[in-house]
Amino acid sequence: MESPFKPEILKGKVALLTGGASGIGFEISTQFGKHGASIAIMGRRKAIVDAAVSSLRSLGIPAAGFAGDVRNQEDAKRVVESTIEHFGRLDILVNAAAGNFLVSPEDLSPNGFRTVMDIDSVGTFTMCREALKYLKKGGAGRKESDKGGLILNISATLHYTASWYQIHVSAAKAAVDAITRNLALEWGTDYDIRVNGIAPGPINDTPGMRKLGPEEINSMRSSDVMPLFKLGEKWDIAVAALYLASDAGKYVNGTTLVVDGGLWLSRPRHLPKEEVKMLSRVVEKRARQAPTGVPSSKL
Ligand code: COA
Repeated sequence: MESPFKPEILKGKVALLTGGASGIGFEISTQFGKHGASIAIMGRRKAIVDAAVSSLRSLGIPAAGFAGDVRNQEDAKRVVESTIEHFGRLDILVNAAAGNFLVSPEDLSPNGFRTVMDIDSVGTFTMCREALKYLKKGGAGRKESDKGGLILNISATLHYTASWYQIHVSAAKAAVDAITRNLALEWGTDYDIRVNGIAPGPINDTPGMRKLGPEEINSMRSSDVMPLFKLGEKWDIAVAALYLASDAGKYVNGTTLVVDGGLWLSRPRHLPKEEVKMLSRVVEKRARQAPTGVPSSKL
């Protein structure tokens, strides 16, 4: 789809994306590049990173790739420094690297739980920490007139309610959202860095969807009752990222933008809808029977 944004909105910016070689991360890499940014990609698998870089370059986008694992602090430091060596500065860090698999809590080992926490939560924190000295206002590589940079954390909506077989990922993404809010407060105040997140719903044609039971969710596509309740496209997430990364989002800090067509709202509640309805009737009745002299607005 054609972009609704002007092609130069990220002109002169340098973005580093973990997990930027595939899925949602690669679409953000591509859209950021098409809107003027130079792109550095970090990923565990060198061949996939190299292929992504070639693909970006074939579109005329300045791109570089660095193999590394966000769980390894040395890798994080090396990749951030390599980005600076290559492009001279860093304006945007996108934490899109994530681990996921379906498993029941009773079958998940503590090490399996820790593995996903390490990739999603600790990895996000480590990358932010290593990037700080380049992202902060007045930081290395920044001009005096430059504002501070931006951090964008890719999250999820799983933990807003509860999700079968996703206890580890839900915990990890809840931590990511906490990192987003706390860094927005701390680094927004001290260093002029905006820190935001995006919580995608189920997105078509991604490794996550291929792994996490696509059939059930694919059937939503045919829904004509609620037209927004369908799979999203990677493009939807990338343009949300563009909005947050551009000056259009300059007053947005500490927010995780849900981009899911409203889907998480439809998750089954613990309390069935009919019971809530009954309860509301009882509450209304009690309110009507309250002693006189109490204004109805106070009930
Ligand atoms: N079910 C249960 N436990 C699993 C598992 C699965 N499918 N996959 C890994 N684990 C557990 C392992 O058993 C191990 O725990 P143990 O030592 O107690 O046995 C622990 O997780 C680490 O496994 P390991 O294979 O050593 O980890 P890794 O560093 O190679 O990473 C993944 C494995 C699965 C976390 C990672 O490769 C991954 O998530 N890849 C997919 C990425 C993806 O889908 N991204 C899209 C996100 S939406």
